[in-house]
Amino acid sequence: MGFLACVCLLQLLFLGSSPAAAAQQPPTPPARALDATLQDYAYRALARRPRTGIVYNGTVPADLAGVAVSALRLRSGSLRRRGFPNYFQFALPAGAVARPRVERAVLVYSDLGNLSDRYYPLPPGYAYLAPVLGLLAYDAANLSAVALPELSLVASTTPILVSFGSVRALPSGGPAPRCVWFDLDGAPQFRDPEASGNVCAAYRGGHFSIAVNSTVVAPPAPAPASPAAIAPLVPGTGGRATGNSQAWKIAGTVVGSAAALGLLASALLCLVRYKRVRKLEVMERNSEVGETLRMAQVGRAQAPVALWTRTQPVIESEYAA
Ligand SMILES: *[C@@H]1O[C@H](CO)[C@@H](O)[C@H](O)[C@H]1NC(C)=O
Ligand SMILES: *[C@@H]1O[C@H](CO)[C@@H](O)[C@H](O)[C@H]1NC(C)=O
Ligand SMILES: *[C@@H]1O[C@H](CO)[C@@H](O)[C@H](O)[C@H]1NC(C)=O
Repeated sequence: MGFLACVCLLQLLFLGSSPAAAAQQPPTPPARALDATLQDYAYRALARRPRTGIVYNGTVPADLAGVAVSALRLRSGSLRRRGFPNYFQFALPAGAVARPRVERAVLVYSDLGNLSDRYYPLPPGYAYLAPVLGLLAYDAANLSAVALPELSLVASTTPILVSFGSVRALPSGGPAPRCVWFDLDGAPQFRDPEASGNVCAAYRGGHFSIAVNSTVVAPPAPAPASPAAIAPLVPGTGGRATGNSQAWKIAGTVVGSAAALGLLASALLCLVRYKRVRKLEVMERNSEVGETLRMAQVGRAQAPVALWTRTQPVIESEYAA
């Protein structure tokens, strides 16, 4: 390993252990990052002085083509008293509230379209019959705010209904479609739909879809996911029940720790070598100097002399003085 590489490595190590880097959070799961992005685009759709109870459609950047996002600003009191029966596929019942309590809330609707699989991968054996639809609530106090924390949207007596208009048709006699709800960790929970088959009931906001055991549906046309946008899933860790986010966390931790250990080991090796090289250099330099000066004429004989004396000779009388 070259000396320069060594120095670089050491710098990297100390840079890596600087407080700023140490304070960094573990990487945000893609679905959570998407929520934050969509909150931003939904808020941009709200005019400077948005009317309450009016749906504003957002526009998304090209890399999210196929995703729809909208914003709806409501007074909390109005939501609780009247609900909002017709926010795209969502019907919010009277009694729905956003917590913690705010004066006005913005409900951000999203339809992930053909990006549903990318951001909300299903456990093995399941396939989507409908896109993932999101309904999240935020505080409306500052409409230019970004990275807002979600409020929790809860229905008390009557559930929120999600009506998936057209789900993919299934051969009869196979397993029944199931409603799937994702919590903010991205872990899916399956429930049976309402009697009509394409309506899901929920007492919380979040992300919803309809899925089915994929052994009975033709595999969906593989989405040409760009390799950089989503990394391959790590099989075998986490398990089905805990979902992929768990597997991701574990894989990330393992890879991260291994890399850090490797870096530390190389740096230590490097430090040892560097010290040895420095020592050799010093020894060489001394020996070169010594070559010319070591032998001195002492009387008639050549005798080696020390270059430096450690204790300078002092005349004894100086002590007495
Ligand atoms: C918003 O988009 C939906 C479909 O995504 C459309 O039906 C509706 O008319 C749009 N609203 C406005 C105000 O453009
Ligand atoms: C999703 O659909 C949109 C058009 O609706 C298209 O522009 C985009 O490339 C598609 N994305 C993927 C990943 O298939
Ligand atoms: C799907 O159905 C097949 C056959 O009925 C069954 O063996 C498999 O365990 C099911 N998969 C899931 C994820 O339920």
